[in-house]
Amino acid sequence: MTQGAEKIRKIPIAVPALSDEEWQAIREPLLSGWLTQGPKVSAFEKEFSKLHNVNHALAVTSCTTALHLALAAMGVGPGDEVIVPAFTWVATANVVLYCGATPVFCDVDITTFNIKVEDIASKITERTKAIIPVHLFGLCADIDAIRAVIPSHVKILEDAACAAGASYKGRFAGSLGDMAAFSFHPRKSITTGEGGMVTANDKDLNRLAEIMRNHGAEISEEVRHNSAKPYLLPDFKMLGFNYRMTDLQAAVGLVQLGKLQSFIKERQTWAEYYTEQLKSIEWLKPQAVLKDITQHAWQAYVCYVDPKIAPMPRNDMMDVLQQKGIATRPGTHAVHMLTFYKDKYGIKADDFPGAKACDQNTMAIPLHNKMTKEDFDYVIEGLKSI
Ligand SMILES: Cc1ncc(COP(=O)(O)O)c(C=O)c1O
Repeated sequence: MTQGAEKIRKIPIAVPALSDEEWQAIREPLLSGWLTQGPKVSAFEKEFSKLHNVNHALAVTSCTTALHLALAAMGVGPGDEVIVPAFTWVATANVVLYCGATPVFCDVDITTFNIKVEDIASKITERTKAIIPVHLFGLCADIDAIRAVIPSHVKILEDAACAAGASYKGRFAGSLGDMAAFSFHPRKSITTGEGGMVTANDKDLNRLAEIMRNHGAEISEEVRHNSAKPYLLPDFKMLGFNYRMTDLQAAVGLVQLGKLQSFIKERQTWAEYYTEQLKSIEWLKPQAVLKDITQHAWQAYVCYVDPKIAPMPRNDMMDVLQQKGIATRPGTHAVHMLTFYKDKYGIKADDFPGAKACDQNTMAIPLHNKMTKEDFDYVIEGLKSI
């Protein structure tokens, strides 16, 4: 940098909030030699289920494997249909295909970015086995309204990838449907590097998922290892996978989970600050929160850039902000517009206008637990100057 040149502030879109505590936490499993699924995983599951007020939790390798495992436990297979929002991360639809079933897309609401409840009924057929409402960016989908428009045998799998700690009408994400799947990817509020969690209230669904997580084995490695019977090998009565989380990850997860409530509180404070400070910008609409109904977990602060009144297209705006050192991202993508799905099902972008509009016009601005007030003010100034 030349003398006198202004130093550009760099504000990343997300930074994991890790500290020396997580670093120290992995010492125990490292030194004990128990690295794969063991006591740390059990403790992490117990704390996670307690915090989300749900009966069971199973730690796995990612939210994608959590979603797959849950669908498999629900018995989703060839010939079945599963309803998924068209605006979500691709994994929500991919897992349906992993089961040999068919994803049926449903449009989303352009104010909440979540599944459009009014459109769900028209997607139900006699083949519909499940629906995957996504709690996008940490905002719970309107589960009661969804339950009211689907037949009682259709299972609800919450895609709670972004929603650790979120709640709806006083109930936590993870306890709202039949099963749920969470993500601990570094873009999420709490992380284990990669990682996920399956939750369920039903003990039979949980037990099936537990067996399938470990190759279909009837007993876990930990139980087998600690057994007094050296000849004890598990029986395998069904097809399973290896979706086990390591104890190293769970040790980190336990520390992160202990900070979740304070992370969310902080995110909530700054999200409110953004909303207040940015409300004068008419073309920038923050994700609509159903007041007094949902407790947003603010995994991301995503706005809709109204193309009818914005001074420039969203992508140009993202370029301008990038030049100022402010990272932004599209909220997520419209899965029906991705080449694989477009080609496979011959879907047109305009078949789901809400998802298409969200694909083109949503913009996540920086929000994470390492930002300072100066960082937030810099982002606000950057947006106001457009
Ligand atoms: C809505 C949604 N579902 C599923 C996933 C997949 O999560 P993972 O990366 O943990 O597999 C993501 C990841 O970003 C997501 O945002």
